[in-house]
Amino acid sequence: MIDDILPLLRCPLCGGALSREDCSLVCPQGHCYDVARNGTVHFAPGRRERVYTRAFFEQRALAFASGLYAPVLEAIGRALSRFAPGERPVLVDAGCGEGYYLRGVSPERAMTRVGFDLSKDAIRMAARGGGDATFFVADLARIPLADGCADAVLDVFAPANYREFGRILRPGGVVIKLSPRAGYLRELRQLAGGRVPREMDGERVSRYEDAHMRVICREEIAYTQSVEPETVRALCHGSPLLSAIDADALDVSGVTRLTIEETLCVGTLS
Ligand SMILES: C[S@@+](CC[C@H](N)C(=O)[O-])C[C@H]1O[C@@H](n2cnc3c(N)ncnc32)[C@H](O)[C@@H]1O
Ligand SMILES: [Zn+2]
Repeated sequence: MIDDILPLLRCPLCGGALSREDCSLVCPQGHCYDVARNGTVHFAPGRRERVYTRAFFEQRALAFASGLYAPVLEAIGRALSRFAPGERPVLVDAGCGEGYYLRGVSPERAMTRVGFDLSKDAIRMAARGGGDATFFVADLARIPLADGCADAVLDVFAPANYREFGRILRPGGVVIKLSPRAGYLRELRQLAGGRVPREMDGERVSRYEDAHMRVICREEIAYTQSVEPETVRALCHGSPLLSAIDADALDVSGVTRLTIEETLCVGTLS
């Protein structure tokens, strides 16, 4: 699968083009990256994701499987139709986690789907997920992709590096950034007594977007859905919302509905 996107890839160390040599990708300066048996490549040797664990991504995958985030997926699909309408756009999911959004967005549309994350565990899960997306381990600060190769960069609840996003986007290409608002998982916030990370209120993220992008539109996504107890438990461990507290100590037995409030922001960098 990595061979399909070889022309888009660049060495993260020197920016050189990469070519295939047996089970490796090599640049003209001799920097070498092994292609794993699952088709993924580790482009960030020596860098490790320290916050998010394999258990986090497994729980997050369970929450996604419940369908709770399907309306978010649809909103991303609409934004892509509107702002990346061309034939077979290149969509890059930055900080893609286990790949739910990249795999699932607009399944009917032909796209070159490329996802990367600093977490090896997340990329291993993403590669197992099927579909035609290509995944690799990489750091946002050194994205191993060519200048101007992407039509859209998707960033869902992940840190952003607008300098790198601007470099890999073609002129007029868009960033589609999803971030939580103050009512996101309101029912769990209440149980947590408001002890949630400050990034989860969305305002800081919006200010940062305004400072770094030309914002074209913001859509507020808001809905409440009935959920099964296992989805609530999955989100206790598979959302950054409760990362600061002992989620096992919360009594979530009364939570039967969950509220999703997110902002979908679209902007350009050129
Ligand atoms: C809250 S998770 C969101 C994952 C995914 N977008 C989703 O919605 O399921 C944040 C992600 O950002 C990734 N991340 C954090 N720092 C990163 C970096 N410097 N480079 C690449 N990915 C990073 C983490 O490994 C994690 O998968
Ligand atoms: Zn190199």
